Amino acid sequence: MTKQVGVLTAGGDSPGLNAVLRGIGKAAQEQFRMHVTGFRDGFRGLMENRTVDLDEQSLSGILTLGGTILGTSREKPHRMIVGGRPMDMTDAIVENYRRNHLDVLVCIGGGGTQKNAYRLMQKGLNIITLPKTIDNDVVMTDVSFGFDTALGIATEAIDRLHSTAHSHHRIILVQTMGHRAGWLALGAGLAGGADVILIPEIPYSIEKVARAIAGRSRGGKHSSIVAVAEGALSLEDLAQAEKAQKGKTKRQKTAGGSTRRDLDSLEMAQGHNTLNIAKQLESLTGLESRVTILGYLQRGGTPSADDRILATRLGTACADLIREDVYGVMLAARGDKAEPVKLEEVVGKIKTVPLDHSWISSARRVGTSFGD
Ligand code: F6P
Repeated sequence: MTKQVGVLTAGGDSPGLNAVLRGIGKAAQEQFRMHVTGFRDGFRGLMENRTVDLDEQSLSGILTLGGTILGTSREKPHRMIVGGRPMDMTDAIVENYRRNHLDVLVCIGGGGTQKNAYRLMQKGLNIITLPKTIDNDVVMTDVSFGFDTALGIATEAIDRLHSTAHSHHRIILVQTMGHRAGWLALGAGLAGGADVILIPEIPYSIEKVARAIAGRSRGGKHSSIVAVAEGALSLEDLAQAEKAQKGKTKRQKTAGGSTRRDLDSLEMAQGHNTLNIAKQLESLTGLESRVTILGYLQRGGTPSADDRILATRLGTACADLIREDVYGVMLAARGDKAEPVKLEEVVGKIKTVPLDHSWISSARRVGTSFGD
């Protein structure tokens, strides 16, 4: 019997999504004669049964396209806004899975998507997930597709910022995405020769950052590049976050709400973090400072060759898993192999940069400061 495969892309978009859809779709249909249905805009499209036939024609010519032809959203099955209110729409999703006679639902996404997919697995659906995110923070996989492209974009930005920083004798801070992980800032900082790299895994002291930059200045280097991960924390931020977290644990038993607001406002403040660091560095070093926030540039445009290859490898290997009825897994990239790992080993965890990672030690050995 023809197997019915459902596919959706969820969470923030990322270069390589179309390449993976093409990989799954072509291998599933051309090799194994399966039928592939895409759902639009992540879990919302599955809840509303908005489908698109991923036939030969719709998969053609999309390998190099950025974004996702299916559309995406951050909506969660158990908390979807319907009629202006958050509602648990899990049952509607399960019903549409059955209505489409699906044998499997392939969910392509980052940490949040893995969690949502796991919840659907617990409701009895056959699930396979694939790791996608420019943040590279999905556990159990060497890498997630989208990361290499974003790394290239951030590195090129740093390359370009060096010359203008040098001409004006300025400090230029460049903020990368990455959520609570420092992979992008660290990788781009190392590849682009940033003088300071600030990542969430290594809380910084602003005085130490200023000292490193002032030292460069005394040595005749009057410009500096600081790569800042969006989740970077100063030692003071960390103390505040820990305090708020403690409060949360205590108050969870009682009210809960106000501590949630503390955490939210801290996260919002972090959005302005890089601007604050620039101001502080200007006053501590006397050097003019400027900020470049790379933002969504890192998620847009055509995927790199590495991401196309990874997405095609994982996508085609996903078709093999479906043929073998291997479900409840995320397909991870491990060296040259694509290996299924149990979804329960993936959910609720994030892959941060280990402090003994070679990227950190190599950066230190070429004189990069982490502000610690
Ligand atoms: O998870 C990918 C990511 O791009 C993060 O790096 C960033 O913090 C977040 O998504 C931005 O999300 P949104 O698209 O919802 O603004």
